Amino acid sequence: MAQSQRKILVTSALPYANGSIHLGHMLEHIQTDIWVRFQKLRGHLCTAVCADDAHGTAIMIKAEQNGITSEELIEGVRQEHMADFNDFMIGYDNYYSTHSPENRAFSEEIYKACRDNGKIAVRSITQAYDPEKKMFLADRFIKGTCPKCKAEDQYGDNCEVCSATYTPMEMINPRSVYSGATPIEKESEHYFFKLPEFQEFLQKWTRSGTLQDQVANKLAEWLDSGLQEWDISRDAPYFGFEIPDTEGKYFYVWLDAPIGYMASFKNLCDRTEGLDFDEYWKKGSETELYHFIGKDIINFHALFWPAMLDCAGYRTPTAVNAHGYVTVDGEKMSKSRGTFIKARTYLNHLDPQYLRYYFAAKLNSRVDDIDLNLTDFVQRVNSDVVGKVVNIASRTASFINKKFDGQLLGTPAQEAMINEFIAAGDTIAEYYETREYGRAMREIMRLADIANTYIADEEPWVKAKNEETLPQVQEICTVSLNLFAILATYLKPVLPNLVADAEAFLNKELTWDNRSELLFGQSVNTFKPLMARIDAKQIEAMIEEGKEEAAAQAPTTPAVETELSKDPIAAEINFDDFAKVDLRIALIAKAEHVEKANKLLKLTLDLGGETRTVFSGIKSAYKPEDLEGKLTVMVANLAPRKMKFGLSEGMVLAAGPGGEEIYLLEPHAGAKPGQRVM
Ligand code: 2FM
Ligand code: ZN
Repeated sequence: MAQSQRKILVTSALPYANGSIHLGHMLEHIQTDIWVRFQKLRGHLCTAVCADDAHGTAIMIKAEQNGITSEELIEGVRQEHMADFNDFMIGYDNYYSTHSPENRAFSEEIYKACRDNGKIAVRSITQAYDPEKKMFLADRFIKGTCPKCKAEDQYGDNCEVCSATYTPMEMINPRSVYSGATPIEKESEHYFFKLPEFQEFLQKWTRSGTLQDQVANKLAEWLDSGLQEWDISRDAPYFGFEIPDTEGKYFYVWLDAPIGYMASFKNLCDRTEGLDFDEYWKKGSETELYHFIGKDIINFHALFWPAMLDCAGYRTPTAVNAHGYVTVDGEKMSKSRGTFIKARTYLNHLDPQYLRYYFAAKLNSRVDDIDLNLTDFVQRVNSDVVGKVVNIASRTASFINKKFDGQLLGTPAQEAMINEFIAAGDTIAEYYETREYGRAMREIMRLADIANTYIADEEPWVKAKNEETLPQVQEICTVSLNLFAILATYLKPVLPNLVADAEAFLNKELTWDNRSELLFGQSVNTFKPLMARIDAKQIEAMIEEGKEEAAAQAPTTPAVETELSKDPIAAEINFDDFAKVDLRIALIAKAEHVEKANKLLKLTLDLGGETRTVFSGIKSAYKPEDLEGKLTVMVANLAPRKMKFGLSEGMVLAAGPGGEEIYLLEPHAGAKPGQRVM
């Protein structure tokens, strides 16, 4: 029976607007999208919104390095992110930005409500300050020598070698990673949200079924040890929203980021008939609100966020669903191993539905990490989706098309088996609802095994050869295609394109409720292959492209680029260190495309007698013929690096943000190949 229609709003965490979407993000967005598609398939009014998280120092600095405004940077990145999600079949109803008028308005309103309720404190604090760049420095933008174990090049808050914690000013020789200047201490006024005053409210809220047990237990530890006031302001220069009634004070990016969920939804409501913002967000709302997030940002969503919402008169989330990290082949994603895979790199080689299925098969409602084991990935997708599910249709459809002109048998048959498939939908729905996707996939594959066994036992290919048994073939194939239609319904949240093709073949729009409306007596269209098997070579090519990207990034990437590179500029070195680098003038004697390489050109460099081969990630900016005969500068004593395409014996120097904007260094006229650069 159809349940009454629920009104549900769902969000995924807002990706930062200064880096590309990678498979770590994709786990969350796929998890969310499957849940949303499932709810829609069940007939509920489910709306999914997301946005880019556009504020903060890192974005401001990156824009500055790229010579563009922060606004230009974030809009370019938003377009890239939207294309990635779209191509992964992630169907947000709105994908917005936290740098929006709606978000400014909500942030100001919520802040003022908290302030007027006496929940904002103002006091001076002393912080490290870069006197050259004229800005305050967060601890991770300061590096220096650990005061305890003397390890060099440590961040301003803790030592990765001996685990000591300290303040930046306690370090030996601290320096700003932006300018290299020695930070000074400077006082300024900050604004704090009085989180401790929400202790009791949060004790209750975190135990009211809103969180997974693992998460609630972790939070109980924090709550028991006492909450701290939360610093919600940052001093100019900062890319964000200025705090009302202040000068030069901005909301910390994490204040307005979750408010971005409301802003994205409001922006959608304003252009969607029947979608009412207040119905979803006012205190006492009967609608449901779910946030899907990674385990690293639980405190923001399960402490600060509900407290702020409650204080400002808004409803709190129905649930916050946290997931773990993605590992690849059991290890943290790594640029040098090529396993830090960007969404676009994946899409260049593989059908997104492979990954959607694989993550679905591994996901559960817990906070566990999910391993993308590449061998298992190929094997599981090929054996489950192609070998089991698609196989049911591909083994039977051609008989219906060829021998029966697409016409299915008119009288029902094998009703017990078909009813078992229909009934299983209730269990599968429960698994989807509770985010136990792995269990849902296992149940679907158990049914697929039953269908395949039925086909194997009935041997339609044998019966089709004999006029007497030919009529039975229509029954076998009709039953099989009905079973297939039911399984396709169950897989529709995970494999939207495959199932859209199946619907075109079956002449039926599949919904959860109409799965019991069988196809006996109907006709089907010509069957076209629904999904190809993964070839292990596609995986190799993807990993190789990941490695190429890492190699291509090395010479030109501005340092504040990804979460992996927390080090905005290279550490300071002394003259002797610099002198170790053997920079030489090189003549580009030959420049060639490299077969199957997306980013690299192969350069043959003449160092005045000696010849070197260098693979360089500059293909997006240069045609080989334009380079031949030009002089450039190379690092001549870099250890050779073995790549798939051959040995790279050095590195040429280039500047620029990447893409078409890569500029090889070129010496003034008169320089000769082989001359040392100092
Ligand atoms: O951790 C992150 O990537 C943040 N940009 C997530 C923000 S989620 C929400 F609060 F906006
Ligand atoms: Zn140390």
